Amino acid sequence: MVTPETETMRAVGFHDHGDVDQFELLTVPVPEIDPDEVLVEIRAAALNHQDLFAVRELDHYIPEYPFWGGGDMAGTVAAVGDRVTGWQAGDRVVVDPTITCGECRFCRAGEQSMCEQYEVFGEHRKGGFAEYAAVPAANLHAVPDSIPFETAAAAPMVTGTAWRALATRAGLEPYESLLVVGATGGVGHMAVQLAREVLNVDTLYATTSTAEKAAFLRDLGVDHVVDYTEEEFSARVWELTDKRGVDVVYNNVGGETWVPSMRSLRPGGRLVASGATAGPTPPTEIRLVFVRQLNVMGSTAHSATDLDRALGYVWDGTVEPVVQETFPLEAYAEAFRTMADREAYGKLVLTLD
Ligand SMILES: NC(=O)c1ccc[n+]([C@@H]2O[C@H](COP(=O)([O-])OP(=O)(O)OC[C@H]3O[C@@H](n4cnc5c(N)ncnc54)[C@H](OP(=O)(O)O)[C@@H]3O)[C@@H](O)[C@H]2O)c1
Ligand SMILES: [Zn+2]
Repeated sequence: MVTPETETMRAVGFHDHGDVDQFELLTVPVPEIDPDEVLVEIRAAALNHQDLFAVRELDHYIPEYPFWGGGDMAGTVAAVGDRVTGWQAGDRVVVDPTITCGECRFCRAGEQSMCEQYEVFGEHRKGGFAEYAAVPAANLHAVPDSIPFETAAAAPMVTGTAWRALATRAGLEPYESLLVVGATGGVGHMAVQLAREVLNVDTLYATTSTAEKAAFLRDLGVDHVVDYTEEEFSARVWELTDKRGVDVVYNNVGGETWVPSMRSLRPGGRLVASGATAGPTPPTEIRLVFVRQLNVMGSTAHSATDLDRALGYVWDGTVEPVVQETFPLEAYAEAFRTMADREAYGKLVLTLD
């Protein structure tokens, strides 16, 4: 068993909720591990929009201050609890960010993201924006030697979420068309890749806000990119589909994109949502739901099977989280600013040597 040389560590977190200026470099105790847990020495932790929500508005989830997020983390095993088998010091690992009980009726049915005691690293538990993290051994996935820690850390949350939404929940078929709203973000750009490379969709549409981001999406294989700052996207999708509409819309943005997403769908189409970055309570249009007989469905994170499948596609190179930029832990302020200012496409990752 390898134990940390010091009893304290650096972490990037906050003492109170507010905005990204609340983040600071902290010196905190190295976490202790329970018998079923593993201490991971963090080498990379990816930012998710969740980390902005955590500091801005999720104070009802935060167990104690100071709190640090970072649900997506990769590194090496530093120490294992007494009851842990199958993992040893030095193993390269990435952590499943969701914590589930394994015993409730949903877990037993394989629906871990519906778990009655569902929690997430980065919201309910301190995560990987630190030198070490204590995680249940059940949350570990081995990282192949060919995959850098930055790529591994960038993968679980966004790849698992996008896979579940498109494959498990929406049941997207190869002959269908898909519109991804908010496609350049972490979840969005993995949705694009999974739809193109794994689910083999017929026609792929996506919305974004700048010419640079549009080029990024075309490089990932999007057939038609619509810049919603220049034209109303549902009208453009209607035109591009010869007034037929798309089969499926994946929307993590919410806000004023909600009704246009429904307008972009064919009769009987499916709208799947797993986020509401621009607002959770938009006006809606119930007549569209019943006249077009739409299916509106939600999706959250991933089941164990969803994550296994999603990570498998990353490990074998079928899809790849695009790490736009890495920042050493101390440069956290610039990383969070980049995400908050919507300059990011793909993933931003904090690294530790
Ligand atoms: N349910 C779950 O389990 C789950 C899991 C993961 C993520 N999520 C949610 O999914 C959403 C996306 O997460 P993410 O980590 O992929 O975020 P992200 O990397 O920050 O991407 C968000 C994207 O949304 C677009 N966007 C449109 N309107 C926006 C606005 N008003 N503010 C900010 N961005 C806007 C931006 O792209 P353009 O500029 O190109 O429009 C941006 O690239 C978040 O709401 C997150 O909480 C949910
Ligand atoms: Zn459960």
